[in-house]
Amino acid sequence: MDNRPIGVFDSGLGGLTVVKELMAELPNEDIVYFGDTARIPYGTRSKEIVAKYSSQCVRFLKTQNVKMVVVACNTVSSCCLKLLRTKFHIPIVGVIEPGAQAAVSATINKKIGVIGTEGTISSAAYEKAILKRAPDISIYTKACSLFVSIVEEGWAETDVAYLTAKKYLENIKLEKIDTLVLGCTHFPLLTNVIGKTMGEGVTLIDPAEGTALMTKQILTENNMLNSNKNTGTYRFFVSDFGQRFEQIGSNFLGQDIECPKKIDIETY
Ligand code: DGL
Repeated sequence: MDNRPIGVFDSGLGGLTVVKELMAELPNEDIVYFGDTARIPYGTRSKEIVAKYSSQCVRFLKTQNVKMVVVACNTVSSCCLKLLRTKFHIPIVGVIEPGAQAAVSATINKKIGVIGTEGTISSAAYEKAILKRAPDISIYTKACSLFVSIVEEGWAETDVAYLTAKKYLENIKLEKIDTLVLGCTHFPLLTNVIGKTMGEGVTLIDPAEGTALMTKQILTENNMLNSNKNTGTYRFFVSDFGQRFEQIGSNFLGQDIECPKKIDIETY
C-alpha cells in the first residue's frame, strides 16, 4: 500500500479530462494536478522545448511527494515519455499506449483514424503503437490544432466547431474508418461535433479511459494502491491564471474546480 498522491500534468487544463477518468476509476486515490497554463500550447512547439517543459512539470510533481506520474498530455506522451522515464525514477504512464490499445480492440474493418496536435501527429507515436499491436491496420492521421482554441474559447457546440470539423475530417471520412482516436486532451469536449461529422458507425476513442485503467493496473500490480477508504483529495496547481480559468477547468473536469495554487514552473 502507498498512500502518497498520484501526480498528473498537462500543458494546461485539458488534462483534467484524464483526472475525471482517474477519479471514476480510482475514487480513493489522492491526486495532485499541474497545468502549465503559462506555456500552453505545447502542441506547436519543438521536441526540445517540450522535453524541457515536461521535465520541469515532473520535477515539480516530485516535490509534492507523488508515487507515480500520469502524463495527460498527448503531445508530451508522444515525444518525451522515454526521456522522462530515463530521467526520473518513478512509474510514468502516458496516454498513447492505452489509446492505441483501445483503438485496436475497437476496430473491425482495420481502418483507424488518429487526430491530435501537430506535435502528436508528426511524431507518428500513435501509428507506431497501433502497428506494434496489429501490423495489418491502415491508419489515417490529421493534425487538428484549431480544435484546441475552439474548446478553450468555449465554442464546442457552435457552427464554427462544425465547420472546422467538416474541413479537418473530410479526407479521413473518405477513408471509411470505423475508429477514430481523439489524440488530444481537448478533443473529448468535441465528441458531439466530431461524432456527428464522422457519422454513425465510427467509434470515438478517448485515451483517458484506458489511461485510468492502466494507472490502476500499475498501482495494483506494484501493491501501491491507497489504503484509505474515503474519497480522495484533489489539489490543483497552475503556472498562470487565465481569465476564464474556472469556467474552462470546470468544463474539462465535468464539475466545479477548486481554486488552484499558482507556482513558478521556471524555477523547477
Ligand atoms: N494537451 C495537449 C495535448 O493533449 C493539447 C494542448 C497543447 O497543444 O498544449 O496534446
